Amino acid sequence: MRALLCKSHGLPDTLVLEDVPSLTPGKGEVVVQVKAAAVNFHDTLIIQNLYQHKPELPFSPGADLAGIIKAVGEGVTGYKVGDRVIGLLRWGGFAEEALVPAGRLAALPSGVDFPDAVALGLAYTTSYYGLKNCAHLAPGETLLVLGAAGGIGSAAVQLGSVMGARVIACASSAESLEICRRLGAAETINYHTDDLRDCVRRFTNGRGLDVVCDPVGGKLADAAVRGMAWQGRYLVIGFASGEIPRVPLNITLLKGCSILGVSRGQFMDREPEKSKANADELFAWLAAGKITPVITARYRLDQARDALNDMMQRKLHGKAVILI
Ligand SMILES: NC(=O)c1ccc[n+]([C@@H]2O[C@H](COP(=O)([O-])OP(=O)(O)OC[C@H]3O[C@@H](n4cnc5c(N)ncnc54)[C@H](OP(=O)(O)O)[C@@H]3O)[C@@H](O)[C@H]2O)c1
Repeated sequence: MRALLCKSHGLPDTLVLEDVPSLTPGKGEVVVQVKAAAVNFHDTLIIQNLYQHKPELPFSPGADLAGIIKAVGEGVTGYKVGDRVIGLLRWGGFAEEALVPAGRLAALPSGVDFPDAVALGLAYTTSYYGLKNCAHLAPGETLLVLGAAGGIGSAAVQLGSVMGARVIACASSAESLEICRRLGAAETINYHTDDLRDCVRRFTNGRGLDVVCDPVGGKLADAAVRGMAWQGRYLVIGFASGEIPRVPLNITLLKGCSILGVSRGQFMDREPEKSKANADELFAWLAAGKITPVITARYRLDQARDALNDMMQRKLHGKAVILI
C-alpha cells in the first residue's frame, strides 16, 4: 500500500510517498482502507516536530480518516470487516491503510460520504466540545469566532448558529467572511481593515461577548478578552498565528470571566463516553443535513504535500480533503 511518510522532521516538501507493507491489526485495533483524509493545521505542526505528541519516525500525518474496515484485531467488538467508519486519530491518515484503535472509531451513518465525514472530524468534534462541554453556550448568547473561515473556526460558526447563538465571525478577507455568512454568521469583522474592539462594542451594544472561540492566538486575543461580557467564557483552542498570547489576569477579575483550555485529544482519552456521544450527535446532524462542512479543496494522495503547503500559506478556507 502507498503511504505519505514523514521520515525526518521538516516542511511538507520533505514528505515522501512510498510503497510499504500492508498493515495487520494488533489487539483492540482495526485496519481501515482509507477513502478520504482531512487536512488540518495540526498536520503541519506534527511533521515539523512542533506538536505536543511526537510519533516515532517514520509516520504518516493525517488526523482524520474515513474508509472501510479491512481487518479486525483480537478483542474488538461492535465493528466488523466492511463497516464504514471514521477514525479520529493524531496521525496515520495520509495512507491507503491506517491502524485505528477501536476506541478512536465512529460508525458512519448511511448517507454520509467519506469526504464530508473527515471534514467534520477533528474540526467539528473540537469546536463542539469547546462550545458545549467547556463554554456551555446557550441560545441567545453572543459568540465571537476568530479565524472563522478556517477548519476549527468554520465549524464553530456553524455549530454556534445551530446551537442558537448570535455569531460574530472574524477573518482576514471578504471572501472568507462571505463563507462565514453562508455558515450562519450574523455579523462579520475583517481584522485587517476593522477595529475588533470597536466592532464588538457596536455589535453587542456595549454588553460584550458571552463566548469567544480562539484557534488563532496572537494579538487578536488581547482585544477579544477585553471585549468579554460579565461571566464570559474564552475558549483557548490553538495558536495558528504562531504566537501564544499573554492575558492580563486583572481583566478576568473585572469581568468575572473564565479562560478555558480546550483539548479534544484529552477529552477523548479522559472522557470517552461523552466524547463518543458528541461524535454520534454530530454525525446524526450531518446525516440529517442540519450541518454541512464547507469543503473548498480536494487533493489526491500524491498532492497531499501541496495541500499542507496551501494550508501553511493561508490559501485554504473551510476544509480541504485528500481523496484516496
Ligand atoms: N485544542 C484542540 O484540541 C485542537 C484541535 C484541532 C486544532 N487545534 C488548533 O487550532 C488551530 C487552528 O487549526 P485549523 O485546523 O482550524 O487551522 P486552519 O484551517 O488553518 O485555520 C486557522 C485560521 O487562523 C487564521 N490565522 C491567523 N493568523 C494566521 C497565521 N499566521 N497562520 C495561519 N493561520 C492564521 C487563518 O484565518 P485568516 O487567514 O482569515 O486570518 C486561518 O483560517 C491550530 O493551532 C490547531 O493546532 C486545536
